[in-house]
Amino acid sequence: MDIKSQLAELKKQALAELGEINLSSDIEQWRVRYMGKKSQLTEILRGLAGLPIEERKAAGAASNALKAELETALVAKENEMKKLEIAKSAEEAIDVTLPGRPCPQGHLHPVTQAIEEMCSIFQGLGFQVVEGNEVEWDHYNFDALNIPKEHPARDNMATFWMNGESKEGTDWKMLLRTHTSPMQAHIMETTKLPIRIVVPGRVYRYEATDATHLAMFTQIEGLAVDEGITFADLKGTLYEFVRRFYGPDRKVRFRTDFFPFVEPGAEIAVSCASCGGSGCRVCGNSGWIEILGCGMVHPSVLEGAGIDSTKYSGFAFGVGIERIPMLRYGIEDVRNYYSGDLRFLRQF
Ligand code: PHE
Repeated sequence: MDIKSQLAELKKQALAELGEINLSSDIEQWRVRYMGKKSQLTEILRGLAGLPIEERKAAGAASNALKAELETALVAKENEMKKLEIAKSAEEAIDVTLPGRPCPQGHLHPVTQAIEEMCSIFQGLGFQVVEGNEVEWDHYNFDALNIPKEHPARDNMATFWMNGESKEGTDWKMLLRTHTSPMQAHIMETTKLPIRIVVPGRVYRYEATDATHLAMFTQIEGLAVDEGITFADLKGTLYEFVRRFYGPDRKVRFRTDFFPFVEPGAEIAVSCASCGGSGCRVCGNSGWIEILGCGMVHPSVLEGAGIDSTKYSGFAFGVGIERIPMLRYGIEDVRNYYSGDLRFLRQF
């Protein structure tokens, strides 16, 4: 092949390869391959010395022209790559002067806050916090609590029954617990005496919802069982709880009440904070707000759990949680808690 066609071939190949390059780091390799000391072009230029003068002139001119052409193409390619890179980095650039995106900070639900506050008061009085199942056997929800079938107390607790099998070997049926009291029976069956526990948790009643009723709400159950526990212990504990939770200025009222699983049974009310006891809309004009049911654990409940009721005694109580922040903050509709409306929840 003569030098001219060698140069033509070389040019075609070099320019084609340069056109393919899309990384600026590959350009240098291309330069070395086609224009470097060991390149074909350099060799051709070196070999010119051995040629006759006429041929040398023509071939020299053509080689230098190609060299110049490749150099121009190289500079053009470098500029093109630079432009592309600038455009690309502008696209990917981060404007560090922009203000940061706000990161919303959450907090505990007002009902959870109330649970934590109450549990920590009872912990301070020597109670342990335990949790139980929301799906329960009717045996624990009713029978073990001295509420046999056909007992009218079952009607007060409209029940969600679960579709499902009875527990093997029994006629126990599954339900959503209507109160946290079934945990009394579970704990007495499984825990060594003395017992001092509180159980926060959700409970369910098959009821229409309105401003003061929900089909799902929260209670805290309390239970203490030991030798020599008296009604004075119940009263002292619950007075102290009310004093710590509501402050020393509220009056506390004890009245008898009936729950099949306690004897005697009582209810505690505190004087209304809105009116100071004179009667208003919040307390339904009575001056008092009922906060919990309580009583001495019924002997049949103790015996049912295998505890000797002639030796041991205990007290139990159940507090409804939702109404406590309602009274504290003046929340008028209990449904607000679970509507998922952040405008409501952010206030607490
Ligand atoms: N479990 C009762 C209720 O839901 C409250 C209660 C608990 C009463 C413990 C007495 C003792 O109404």
